[in-house]
Formats: sequence, C-alpha cells, structure tokens
Amino acid sequence: MKILLTGGAGYIGSHTAVELIGLGYDVVIVDNLRNSSEKVLDRIEMISGKKPVFYKIDCCDRTALEQMFSKENIDAVIHFAGLKAVGESCSIPIEYYRNNIDSTLALLDVMKKNNVNNIIFSSSATVYGAPDTVPIKETAPVGRCTNPYGWTKYMNEVILTDAAKADPELSVVLLRYFNPVGAHKSGFIGESPSGIPNNLMPYITQVAVGKLKQLSIFGNDYNTHDGTGVRDYIHVVDLAKGHASAIEYAMKHKGTEVFNLGTSVGYSVLDIVKAFEEATGVKVPYRIAERRPGDIAECYSDAQKSKEILGWTAQYNLVDMCRDSWNWQRKNPNGYEG
Ligand code: NAD
Ligand code: UD1
Repeated sequence: MKILLTGGAGYIGSHTAVELIGLGYDVVIVDNLRNSSEKVLDRIEMISGKKPVFYKIDCCDRTALEQMFSKENIDAVIHFAGLKAVGESCSIPIEYYRNNIDSTLALLDVMKKNNVNNIIFSSSATVYGAPDTVPIKETAPVGRCTNPYGWTKYMNEVILTDAAKADPELSVVLLRYFNPVGAHKSGFIGESPSGIPNNLMPYITQVAVGKLKQLSIFGNDYNTHDGTGVRDYIHVVDLAKGHASAIEYAMKHKGTEVFNLGTSVGYSVLDIVKAFEEATGVKVPYRIAERRPGDIAECYSDAQKSKEILGWTAQYNLVDMCRDSWNWQRKNPNGYEG
C-alpha cells in the first residue's frame, strides 16, 4: 500500500514516514520545504533502510499535484502540510489561511479525480480553545479559536467533514494532536525550529545545550498544582504510531471520525523542567515571567476513544520524551543545518 504524506519532510511527517516504512508501507512525500530540509530524507533512510519517494511540490499547486498523482498509485493521504506558528499566524494571517486551506482544497480535488478516498488530517487541540473542563473529550465544543492558525485547523475540519458528507466514498480521519515532543531514539530526526523556539520543549533543549541563556516560565499563578501551565505532552513516535492506526481505520470506514492523540495526562511547566533535569542530568536555569497572552491554565486529553476504536495508546512516558528530545538536540545542536 502506498501512502502520500504531504508535509512529510517536517517534524511529525518524518517520524510517521519511519513508522510506516517499518510496517511495510510505501511512502511518498510531497513538501515545499518551507519549514524543513531535504536532508531529512537521508535520515529517514538511515533509520528505516528505505528512502521515501520525494516530490518538491507546493500542495496549493493543483497541476503539480495532478502530475504526481498520475505517476504514483496512492491509496491514502496523510495531510501534514501546513504552517503552524501561532504568533506568525497573527502577523501574516492571509498567508496562513491561503496556505493551510488552499492546500486542503487542492488535495481534495485531485484525490477525487484520481479516486483516492482516504485522508487523515493533522488537526490540533487548539480547536478546543479554552476548554470548559479537562480532560477534553472529542465531543467538547470546538471553534473557539484565538488565532488564525487555530481557525485554519477548525476550518479544515469543517471542509473535510462537508466533503465526506457529500461523497459517500470518502473516508476522513481528523486527528487532534496535543503537545508533540521528543524525537526518534536514534537522534537522526527531530524537531528543527527556525529561530528562537516558541514551544516549551525545544526552548528547554536549547537552554540545556547552551544556545539560549535561560527559560522564561510564562506565569506561576494559574489554578494548577504548582501555578504553572499544564499540558498533555506526547512523544512524537507515539503520535506516528497513531497515524498508522488511523490509516487502518480509514481503509475500513467511510464518513468522518475524529480522535484525540494525547496521553490523558497533564504535566506542568515545572514538572517538565524537573523531569528533563532528572532524565538528562543537565540543569535548566529558569525565571518566572509574565503569563503569555492567549495561554490557558490546563489542556489535556481524554484519549479513551482512540484506545477503544483505533486500538492505540501512547506508550512513552515523560522521561522518554525528555531523554529523546535531548538526544536529538545534543547530536544536532543546529537541527538539520548543523
Ligand atoms: P512542520 O512544520 O515540521 O511540518 C510541516 C511541513 O509542511 C513542513 O515540512 C513544511 O515545509 C510543509 N509545508 C507547509 N506548507 C506546505 C505546502 N503548501 N505545500 C507543501 N508543503 C508544505 O510541522 P509539524 O510539527 O510536523 O506539524 C505537522 C502538522 O501537524 C501541521 O499541519 C501542524 O499544524 C499540525 N500540528 C502540529 C503540532 C505540533 O506541535 N508540532 C500540533 C498540532 C498540530
Ligand atoms: C502551542 C500553541 C498551540 C499548538 C501547540 C503545539 C500557542 C498559544 N499555542 O500550544 O496552538 O497546537 O503549541 O505545537 O502558542 N511555556 C513557557 N515558556 C516557554 C514556552 C512555553 O513557560 O518558553 C509554557 C506555556 O505557557 C505553556 C506550556 O509551556 O503553559 C506549553 O507551551 P507550548 O509548548 O508553546 O505549547 P502550547 O501553548 O500548549
């Protein structure tokens, strides 16, 4: 079976490519390399023994997509391609809407023309906005997004759901990721943020490796066990395995189904700092700073539905996540550019 990974050169896509190749799937990657490096293809080969077929294509480019689909006999698509920086989405919202929505529309058109009926979409816990209660079930209200990035995820969910309502052949799986961290244990692939990281784990690893001076903890007066923000961190390899389960599910079902991919456990920023120091033996200097605008106190999943229907549960714990994030950072202090 041949699986197309749009955005497959990125952080989550590259880990999913390794997982799928390991399971015997043929993998085709389409990526415009806007936020990734072609070097990842060699790294995937180093781990899995197989280099994915690669097309440097912008997913908004229907003609290029059509040419690719006419050459490859695709069975299912995992649509990772998208811009994902919350802050940047507030400064260049039109580009975010165009890129993240046009790419889905183009893909759906070309899939239909080529009779490809299975699509898995990278959504995000961001669609839940500030949740009324935690843990968050898939049935919780969505669409209370606070930034253009979040709205593109919400709008894509609506577009894909409507497409499946109109086309009885189409199978759509919406995966709402919580906070992906970690890296493949080899240290060959991992997250390679450009500039100063916005997210917690890459910030911590860059402080630990000496690229940044200290971590700023955004607020210690939240209503949580130690006052710092609580999130559901999930190892990227667990996330990759969740995609393999979603493909199996999509091939057997029609219509739209949505799943949380999280661990059902929430950890605070201070829990993460402590776990990182224990797992790696490296100190992470920090200071308490103001709350970050738009942040919420707590966000963690109820992942029971994924367990029951997909047969998937996260296996890695916080120590694994910290150790593997550090292993990647230590071996690649400048990401793929080093
Ligand atoms: P990433 O930036 O590492 O990967 C996305 C890839 O898509 C990049 O390689 C980029 O070059 C490519 N891309 C972007 N626009 C494209 C286009 N128009 N055509 C072709 N390629 C394009 O991000 P990631 O962390 O691997 O995230 C993958 C997906 O998961 C994204 O849709 C993201 O929004 C979503 N997601 C990520 C997180 C997270 O924390 N990493 C959380 C929730 C959801
Ligand atoms: C962010 C995005 C969200 C996206 C998710 C996963 C925002 C507002 N939300 O979520 O849309 O789906 O990433 O990529 O950006 N923290 C610090 N210091 C730091 C960085 C973070 O204290 O330098 C804290 C934050 O306040 C938060 C926690 O660490 O409590 C996690 O932050 P982060 O990694 O940015 O993820 P989210 O804010 O959950």
